[in-house]
Amino acid sequence: MARKPMIAGNWKMYKTAGEGAILVQNLDERVEPYWSRVDVVVCPPFTALKSVSTVIELDRLEIKLAAQNVHWESEGAFTGEVSPRMLVDLRCDYCIVGHSERREMFGETDETVNKKVHALIAAGITPIVCVGESLETRDAGDTERFVREQVRAALDGVDPESAGDIVIAYEPIWAIGTGHTPTPEGANDVCRTIRATVGALFGQPAAIRVRILYGGSAKPENIGLFMPEPDIDGALVGGASLEAASFADMVRTAASFAG
Ligand code: PGA
Repeated sequence: MARKPMIAGNWKMYKTAGEGAILVQNLDERVEPYWSRVDVVVCPPFTALKSVSTVIELDRLEIKLAAQNVHWESEGAFTGEVSPRMLVDLRCDYCIVGHSERREMFGETDETVNKKVHALIAAGITPIVCVGESLETRDAGDTERFVREQVRAALDGVDPESAGDIVIAYEPIWAIGTGHTPTPEGANDVCRTIRATVGALFGQPAAIRVRILYGGSAKPENIGLFMPEPDIDGALVGGASLEAASFADMVRTAASFAG
């Protein structure tokens, strides 16, 4: 069975509640013809989840909603945090976990990533787990071992059925927001390693099902190079997802490669 491609827009710390609502409407007008062939996901900041969720519900959009982060407890004295239960309440389908910006700037570790993955699965939200190497690791020739260990740690203790549903985003840190990308073949080599790791941990059915996205300076001009690669099932997009036109261009291109 072919995996359905996914294009997910990570809005990071951009877009107010009002701006997010307008962007999702503008996006929908452009991507509606492709819904059946591509999963289109938007990841607004916490403060825009409610407004975007309301537009999706009232206008019956097929666009899926994701948060950018979550805490692993369902409630408690954790000032500034948001729980999986709260995301369920806003009808989030997905949640990004372990983005390199959170690992580098906000103390996210393999252990907290793993706790969040478990908490999301228990709440019925699909994790989009981010992995990827620094330039230093790449220059040391250590990329595949490093990424394999990140996947192992993030998915530790997950049951095989749930493992196949998870989305993994391979985002080389040196490619994020820089305009630099690996070659499509180079990105696919790492994505193949990720799939093989899922297979070794959870069995072949999970490896065949798991969707792996490429992320890092993905844009309309290069998405068509990554999509034909056999182990790349879509993209996690930052900058190019902030405008409806460029986001929709990428969805259209992904649809042209959908089986
Ligand atoms: P970028 O960000 O597309 O702006 O490089 C990707 C990401 O951080 O998910």
